[in-house]
Amino acid sequence: MSIRPTVFEFFAGGGLAGLGLDGAGMGGMDVAFANDMDSMKSAAFRANHPGTAFRQGDIWALTAADLPGRPDLCWASSPCQDVSLAGARGGLEAGRSGAFWGFWKLIQELQAQGRGPRVIVLENVIGLLTSGQGRDFAAVCAAMVQAGYRVGALEMDAALWLPQSRPRLFVVAVQGEAPQAAGPIAPFHSPRVVAAHDRLPEAVRAAWAWWSLPTPPRRNLDLAAVLEPDETAGWLDDPEAVLSLAAPLHRARIAAAVASGQRRVGAAYRRVRVENGLKVQRLEVRFDGLAGCLRTPAGGSSRQYVVVCDQGRARVRRLTGREAARLMGVSDDYRLPSSESATLKLMGDAVAVPVVRALAQGLLLPALQASRAAA
Ligand SMILES: C[S@@+](CC[C@H](N)C(=O)[O-])C[C@H]1O[C@@H](n2cnc3c(N)ncnc32)[C@H](O)[C@@H]1O
Repeated sequence: MSIRPTVFEFFAGGGLAGLGLDGAGMGGMDVAFANDMDSMKSAAFRANHPGTAFRQGDIWALTAADLPGRPDLCWASSPCQDVSLAGARGGLEAGRSGAFWGFWKLIQELQAQGRGPRVIVLENVIGLLTSGQGRDFAAVCAAMVQAGYRVGALEMDAALWLPQSRPRLFVVAVQGEAPQAAGPIAPFHSPRVVAAHDRLPEAVRAAWAWWSLPTPPRRNLDLAAVLEPDETAGWLDDPEAVLSLAAPLHRARIAAAVASGQRRVGAAYRRVRVENGLKVQRLEVRFDGLAGCLRTPAGGSSRQYVVVCDQGRARVRRLTGREAARLMGVSDDYRLPSSESATLKLMGDAVAVPVVRALAQGLLLPALQASRAAA
């Protein structure tokens, strides 16, 4: 493709979707405009994408007049679980409760001006498939279909590319042709995507496409590969204070890792579990080469631990912000916020870069190529 397709990146955070789109093969794509309302995220975006037109503010405050030219693609990583139906039904004030509908208002304005994108991507948590008994997912798909797009959804787990378990939903709307299969294909059309499709109204299913994407080669990176060297890490003085929270199964995993005599690297979270009717803090550890899904640090217990077992002992420390960035596929030249908690929030909210790149290479760029050839 000679001219790079242009992208508007909404709910842009630190701009990780744009990193994946820019770095996709076939020349990649250019982010021509980006928006986010959060001041920390906006600062991170500007520090890392100084040449991109960026507007900080509520998406509901934007109009099509703020957006430059005709984008080929619009990307929305709208806030988790925030596709509330109020916006679809209740007018502007009610609409403020669902940021996705602020995005959709802009799509409608662009379309009215003949500037609608050929491809739209909504990235969200898997919970969108079932929230509101499936009505939220149906409302999103119906809006896309009514606007003249064919729609399909893929579940993509970052663990296929990176050492982090992070399943996410990508709803892709396309005008024109794009690579598709005759029916669901593993792993992207998971049983829960298929079930959500089956619940859609007939008129929406009629415009549904099982978008196809190549399965990536086997991942060759594991958790240990993204960690800082042991000697520079800030180990907890009293690891037992954390390890003692492990339930028997997890305690046994740690003991087996220590007894193996080999260096074993694990990741752990503290979680609140109900045992015998009481809420208790439990440490849950995994040694499968993956970190657990990064989360935003809403409370102290949401920060992930690194557990290293070697030389007959288990050491524990907190995952660092730079390690979190690596778990999202962000290279070390990315400028992180100076505070560790801001970095963890930035990364915990973000989309994994190689996942976006794979989606762009396998589906979005071929769709845009096909629409240019047809034009
Ligand atoms: C799930 S995060 C997306 C992060 C981004 N994809 C990344 O890779 O960093 C959702 C983002 O939407 C922003 N946001 C939430 N409500 C918004 C609104 N009404 N207008 C503009 N941005 C909003 C948040 O600040 C947050 O950065």
